[in-house]
Amino acid sequence: MNSQQPYIINKNLGQPLGNISGELPSRNSDGLSVIPLTDEQKYVFDKDGWLVIENVLSGDELCEMRDYAVRIRENPESIPKHLRTPLAMPLQRLLDHPVVVGFLNEFTAYPPLSSQDCYGFGHSFCNVMHRKPGEAGLAPHNGSGLLRFPEDVHFYEAHPGKAHSPHTRFVWELNPVKEKQGGTLFVTGSHKGAYAAPEEIQDPDSDVWSSYSCPAGSLIIFAEATTHSASEWKDKEHDRVAIFSLYNPVDSGWSPQRMPHPEIFESMPPMRRTLFRNRHVADNLPGGDFRRLYDG
Ligand SMILES: [Fe+2]
Repeated sequence: MNSQQPYIINKNLGQPLGNISGELPSRNSDGLSVIPLTDEQKYVFDKDGWLVIENVLSGDELCEMRDYAVRIRENPESIPKHLRTPLAMPLQRLLDHPVVVGFLNEFTAYPPLSSQDCYGFGHSFCNVMHRKPGEAGLAPHNGSGLLRFPEDVHFYEAHPGKAHSPHTRFVWELNPVKEKQGGTLFVTGSHKGAYAAPEEIQDPDSDVWSSYSCPAGSLIIFAEATTHSASEWKDKEHDRVAIFSLYNPVDSGWSPQRMPHPEIFESMPPMRRTLFRNRHVADNLPGGDFRRLYDG
């Protein structure tokens, strides 16, 4: 395998950035080693616009997270109001889970705004998705990310040896999902699509759609640039219990900045708090000089 580093362009005059090795965190805010994507995972995500990583969570950790997510929806009065969110309690650890950081280091992080103590990407929004049979329906959107301007955020960039997904969604499936029973639908490869979607896109049973089955504890990652859709939940054996979490570049985003409740924010490890910093580039690397790679 050729291990040549991609040429990431500098701020000025087309020169490459300085040496970026060591700028992307190797440990998360809990001190856990970041888990980089495999070559196959990188390839599949770039080719398809979405990726399934099975069995990321298991055992007691999975049960605890699923129970909390269900409680938020089914028994909210049992939880103080400001803690009824995936930003709190056991679910908070998902925000910078080692697999999440490994993906975002590769596809979303901007090295000049990243360090061993600071993430080079931001968190935008998360919610609990709890669906029962008959709930939800088709709502296709996005696609053609390779051809969009950066300002609408749903773009996707691909260059020899390097791709960039700025507006990226993570779905933690905390219950099993059966194929075409209500998991998220995707048009594989549509993040690079040059043509407008055909009429068939409005038919959830059309072959234009792909989906997945997965065990509880699996992680689905997709570029919002990929055409995707909700679909009716049909599985009578399990409800859908999923955490949807959206990440964006440090300097932009689709939705307004959504800060955690101040008590939650203060309780986070300092590195996790960097997911919620203001969206700009200049002077936005805590403890470091954002210009340090521009003169390389
Ligand atoms: Fe979406």
